[in-house]
Parts: sequence; structure tokens; C-alpha cells
Amino acid sequence: MMKRIAVVTGATGGIGGMFVKRICLMDDIEEVWAIGRNKDKLERLRSQDQKIVPVAADLSSDGVEAICGLISEKSPDIRILVNNAGTGYMGPFERMEKKQVADICRLNCSVPSELISISLPYMHEGARILNISSASSFQPNPYLAMYSASKVYLKNFSRAINAELKSRKITATAVCPGWVDTGMLPRTKAGSKIKYAGMIAPEIVVDKALKDSARGKDMSVPGVFAKYFRFYSKITPANIVMSQWIRSIRKYI
Ligand SMILES: NC(=O)c1ccc[n+]([C@@H]2O[C@H](COP(=O)([O-])OP(=O)(O)OC[C@H]3O[C@@H](n4cnc5c(N)ncnc54)[C@H](OP(=O)(O)O)[C@@H]3O)[C@@H](O)[C@H]2O)c1
Repeated sequence: MMKRIAVVTGATGGIGGMFVKRICLMDDIEEVWAIGRNKDKLERLRSQDQKIVPVAADLSSDGVEAICGLISEKSPDIRILVNNAGTGYMGPFERMEKKQVADICRLNCSVPSELISISLPYMHEGARILNISSASSFQPNPYLAMYSASKVYLKNFSRAINAELKSRKITATAVCPGWVDTGMLPRTKAGSKIKYAGMIAPEIVVDKALKDSARGKDMSVPGVFAKYFRFYSKITPANIVMSQWIRSIRKYI
């Protein structure tokens, strides 16, 4: 009998950890494969719930191959795939090192696409894919240029395959939060506290995402700030949105 599992990347982080917690409560999921690099954090996760199967994998190198091997060995019924691991860089693009440039493309774009590709043969009717994009996919963001462009890729890819997979009754949802209270965000810059407008807790993102994906929605936008930002970016010329963005983040870069 194939085990009904969920796979969550970036499971040791703020949003991923909350996905693991919530999915463990689902009766129809037997195992939650929690993927991350940090072995200590993975061990702490394992003690939270007996459904959790920690998988140490660096997705910037050979991690996808390791997961691919595990999937073909265990041949599970993948009910939920959460592509959550992601990375970013805030600052001028020209200061980025070659490896940072490659890592953002790899972790934020190629890895989720490859994981979906290897998981689809193991997904059946009712299976769900959740791709954690961002509200920064709503417009170009100077000084967050690669991150925001990578999240546009993930959002559009996600919505497109959701349409393609309708015939198999599998859904793909692009999750687009604004600022979320996790370890990803730096809290101070040159001694002064950084303020993040409309920052929300990871549970708000995760609860809405799981609800929206269960309803078959191709996008999930949690919180008033991200919803407003999405609307504002649609009705305002991009050069105006970009110059406002630059003014708001200048002191932090
Ligand atoms: N926080 C925000 O304001 C915000 C807003 C919108 C969207 N998002 C998106 O939400 C997702 C989760 O972010 P978060 O805020 O929860 O960040 P976080 O707390 O920093 O967690 C990031 C997670 O990604 C994992 N990860 C990073 N590089 C990895 C790699 N090379 N291989 C495997 N795992 C790797 C980390 O695992 P280890 O620690 O074990 O290495 C960690 O579990 C990201 O895609 C991010 O872009 C965040």
C-alpha cells in the first residue's frame, strides 16, 4: 500500500515549519517529509510529531537528486507538495556575487519546477501543489531585482500548470504573502530597527494557503497589505510603483 505523504521544502524555517505543523494535523496524511539543510533543526522538528520524516538535503547542490531517489525508492502517494524553500538578496544587483545569482535562480525557480516534475507521476486526483511566491511578484522591485523576478516566474508557472493539471484534478496554488515574521528578514540595519509594513505571522499565510488550495484557487494572497498592494500595482504605472518602493527601502540598502 502506497503511503499518503506530504513533502515540504524549507521545513526548518518560519513558513515551512508552520506548513509541517498544520499538515501533520490532517488525518489523510501518513507522513510529512520535512526537507531542510540544518540537521539540528530537522531533529528538533522530528520530536514534534511522529508523522515527520526529516530529510537533510541542500537544494542548491544535489538535494533534488536525493529527493528524487527517495521518491522512486518509496513510491509514495504524494498528496501535498509545498515548494517553500527560497532565498533572496536585498541590495544593488551589481554587488551580487556570481554564486548568489545562480543560487536564487536555482532555489527559487529550477528546484520547485524539478520537484513538481518528479512528483507528478506520484500524484493522483485531489493532490495539491503549493508554491510559495511573494507579493514582490506583483511589480519589479529594484534592489530586490532577482528575488522579485524569480517570484514572478514561480507565480506564473504555478498558475499555468494549475490550468494544465485540471484534467487530472490536481491543483497548483501560487502563495503571495507580503512581509512575513520569520528569520528570513533582517531586523536591524546600521543599528536602527527595520520596519516592515503590514507584516503578518506565518500561520496567517499557511492557513489561508491551505484553504485556498483546497478550494482549487490558483493564487492565495494573505493579509490586507498584500491584497491592497496587488490591486495598487495593477492600477498604477510600474515606474511610479518602483520609485515609491525605492524611496521606502533606500534607508535599508
Ligand atoms: N519572510 C517573508 O517576508 C516572505 C515574504 C514572501 C515570501 N516569502 C517566501 O517564503 C518562503 C519561506 O521563507 P521564510 O520567510 O519562512 O524563510 P526562513 O525562515 O529563512 O526559511 C527558509 C527555509 O528555506 C530553507 N533553505 C534555504 N536554502 C536552502 C537550500 N539551499 N536547500 C534546502 N533548504 C534551504 C531553510 O532551511 P535550512 O535553515 O535548514 O537551511 C529554511 O527552512 C521563501 O520562499 C520566501 O521567499 C517570505
